[in-house]
Amino acid sequence: MYVLGIESSCDETAAAIVSDRKEILSNVVYSQIEEHRPYNGVVPEVAARAHLEKIDIVVEKALADANLSLDDIDAVAGTCGPGLIGGVIVGSTFAKSLAFAKKIPFIAVNHIEAHALSVRLTEEVEFPYLLILASGGHCQICVVHDVDNFQVLGRTLDDSVGESFDKVSKLLGFGYPGGPIIEKLYHEGDSDKFSLPRPMCSKGNCDFSFSGLKTAVLNASQKCNSLQDRKDLAASFQKTVSEIMSFKMKQALDFCSNQKIKTNAAVISGGVAANLVIRENLKKTCGSVSSFSVPFLVPPVKFCTDNGAMIAWLGIEKFKKNQFNTLDFRPRPRWPLGENFQKEEKAKREGREEREKGEEREKNENHFCG
Ligand code: KG4
Ligand code: ZN
Repeated sequence: MYVLGIESSCDETAAAIVSDRKEILSNVVYSQIEEHRPYNGVVPEVAARAHLEKIDIVVEKALADANLSLDDIDAVAGTCGPGLIGGVIVGSTFAKSLAFAKKIPFIAVNHIEAHALSVRLTEEVEFPYLLILASGGHCQICVVHDVDNFQVLGRTLDDSVGESFDKVSKLLGFGYPGGPIIEKLYHEGDSDKFSLPRPMCSKGNCDFSFSGLKTAVLNASQKCNSLQDRKDLAASFQKTVSEIMSFKMKQALDFCSNQKIKTNAAVISGGVAANLVIRENLKKTCGSVSSFSVPFLVPPVKFCTDNGAMIAWLGIEKFKKNQFNTLDFRPRPRWPLGENFQKEEKAKREGREEREKGEEREKNENHFCG
């Protein structure tokens, strides 16, 4: 089975074809970095227009690279949120149109769920697994129980971790995109030079907060007199974020161990998972926890940042569960992790309660009648 995945929720226009045997037949990513660089960040209107300009070219290339035609495709999966709504509308409408024209199923993909499941494309990992999802728009820790069942253990109370990389890079004058720039500066600076706070790390829970850390960097930056000072500050920030992620991973591992949740792996995914400093540190942390004997896994760097392969892959996972969508599925700027599952569960619960109430009523009526 071949699924075409289309991604356009932020600043990458991407398409890929993936098979149910985990073959990645093509993976085309058009990055809008150059369009947004002059503004030091992603401009939604610029992004939407760039998606519109590139989407057909990117999809055509994905088909050509895979040496397939649309006739060979069994379903189209498109990101329908969360994200910048202009881009989401472009990609999801394109995906729906192809599905409609070729009379094949359409699968509405939640972008963060696609990040959350991406590790299963390149690794053999069974549910449940522990996951830190760290991207530009999200930062949360959850146990992934199934394709659509996520137990959220903690989340950021303010900025996402990727956002904090981007903001810190901008305020230090290093520009966009912040994550890879700061990671590079880590190797050029002295990461011990500045002592920065680690918000929420005295609390024994899995929540994050990054805005205080960003303000601390802003305050420290006022005292920087040279380029090297700013590099040292960037390096110190990178080290601090890495320590926070490791601390929170440990909290989550402890939580799982205390609650007897047996996970098959610890995973980090999302754009920030491309950061080798964080990956290495997390690997060490997981290795040092005696109660934890399962592997620490991360998708390859190119599948951490936004890509079409993870969308196609979630399409395959949903296809296998017969989870298809109608073409009137509404694109969503906000779409919490596992929302559909929770809604279904709630409806089931309410249905059950209603039934139970009915049975109870019937019993009482019979009782009074009798
Ligand atoms: O997953 P992603 O590509 O898009 C969203 O879903 O948001 O994540 C983008 C975020 C950006 O904030 C970017 O700065 C960050 O991931 N990022 C990184 C690295 N590469 C991308 N952060 C730290 N280190 C990196 N190497
Ligand atoms: Zn993403």
